[in-house]
Amino acid sequence: MPQETPDESIIRRRLAEADQEQVLRFWDGLSEGGRRQLLAQLARIDFGLLAELIDEHITNPKPVELPPDLEPADFIALPTTAAEHRRRRRMRGLGEELLAAGKVAALVVAGGQGTRLNWPKPKGTYPIGPMGKRTLFEVFADGILAARRACGAPVPWYIMTSEATDRRTRDFFRERDFLGLPPEDVTFFVQGMMPAVDLEGKLILEAPDKLARNPNGHGGTLPALAREGILADMRDRGIEHISYFQVDNPLVPPLDPVFIGYHADARSDMSSKMVRKRDAAEKIGVFCTSGGRLHVIEYSDPPGKLAREKDGDDLRFEAGSIAIHILSRAFVERLTESERFALPFHPAEKKIACTDEDGNTVKPAEANGIKFEMFVFDALPQASNPVVLEIDRAREFSPVKNAEGEDSPATARRDMLRLDAARLEEAGVDVPRDADGQVTFKVQISPLAARTPEELKSLLARRGITELTDDLYLGPEEA
Ligand code: UD1
Repeated sequence: MPQETPDESIIRRRLAEADQEQVLRFWDGLSEGGRRQLLAQLARIDFGLLAELIDEHITNPKPVELPPDLEPADFIALPTTAAEHRRRRRMRGLGEELLAAGKVAALVVAGGQGTRLNWPKPKGTYPIGPMGKRTLFEVFADGILAARRACGAPVPWYIMTSEATDRRTRDFFRERDFLGLPPEDVTFFVQGMMPAVDLEGKLILEAPDKLARNPNGHGGTLPALAREGILADMRDRGIEHISYFQVDNPLVPPLDPVFIGYHADARSDMSSKMVRKRDAAEKIGVFCTSGGRLHVIEYSDPPGKLAREKDGDDLRFEAGSIAIHILSRAFVERLTESERFALPFHPAEKKIACTDEDGNTVKPAEANGIKFEMFVFDALPQASNPVVLEIDRAREFSPVKNAEGEDSPATARRDMLRLDAARLEEAGVDVPRDADGQVTFKVQISPLAARTPEELKSLLARRGITELTDDLYLGPEEA
């Protein structure tokens, strides 16, 4: 679509009113194209919102206050009794029916800049499989394809990107034939951007003709779904439930019939999966209630004492959010009806690349500015009948956040390998382990090779495998 060049005099007036004219300090030396780019970026800024954020977080900051009536949220715990197991089975059946009826879509948020991982490309292109095979995107695609085959219905997959990841993500899918999925069922959409400001609230130039901006947070999913025509596309396809997950967790089941069942059975607007927190310091948000509504208190909003409060031996606020949700399409439609819909913006101090006085881009050693992001879980307080479902961390959650240490590729690969080794053992294969109980060989089983224990048993019988004597990769081609 041809972009209208915004009127320079209008932008200059807005900048003067907002006391942000420093962003034009290289104007005289800019090329025609550079001027157009900068004007276009400035034209997209909501200066009213920016002024509010600067006032709230920089000029007149107030300490983060947690509501006085904050209580730990209720959740559906892992089943222990026969009745609870029966109920989970019933919910699985309901979820499978909805999948077979084509009412569920998968949605991954992959717009983040992924700076902690130190991987220069979009995070989804990271080869995560324990045997160096399959990237994060491929792991999800395999799960979606396996679910499609099991339910016999198309399941559209929506991928949210940002200016930071969009082109390279689309190229990656195109070069790899949409990872085996029908291209018409893979849809990309781009989230919005937010300008960053310095510690005094001034807009930052990343280059003489370019503002420092960042994707507006995964909360930007909701307005982007409406703005980019995705909700309309879902409506046309008869989608009622959106299975939402993050690009960083290779263990996530992209379409879990049990979770879908609980969500639909409760007529929930937005449901969430949870694990019990490893310890008070674990960097995951916690589910709480206040004023009769469900909230997630984020780990970066200093709850301090609250995070460490104990209830006997357990943490009082133990229900950790792992950023896996199901949203009802109708709920997202209702929320985004107003064009001005936005979730609250959270500030975070970051090191932001900026220009020096000569116009060169420099990366500062210390945090020099603030990024503003929306969080998708801030929609929870507006959701009716929200379900919080406990899941087994070992089976479903091992995020790749950092280059090393906790929550890194090494820990995710270890957890993927453990799961696949356990599947082999359940199928009757001898799996050698060292003195610490670690599996001595590498194993990787694609859900396309075998999704259920029965499928795995029959594949192993076909291949005559009864003992693990070497590394074993059972990839999609085994199916
Ligand atoms: C996030 C959650 C945290 C949860 C944890 C589980 C936040 C603020 N917190 O933490 O409550 O316990 O995951 O792993 O999210 N993304 C976008 N666009 C953006 C920003 C992020 O698509 O503008 C995507 C990323 O690509 C990624 C996901 O959102 O898939 C998570 O982003 P990240 O900022 O890494 O969240 P965490 O701080 O790790």
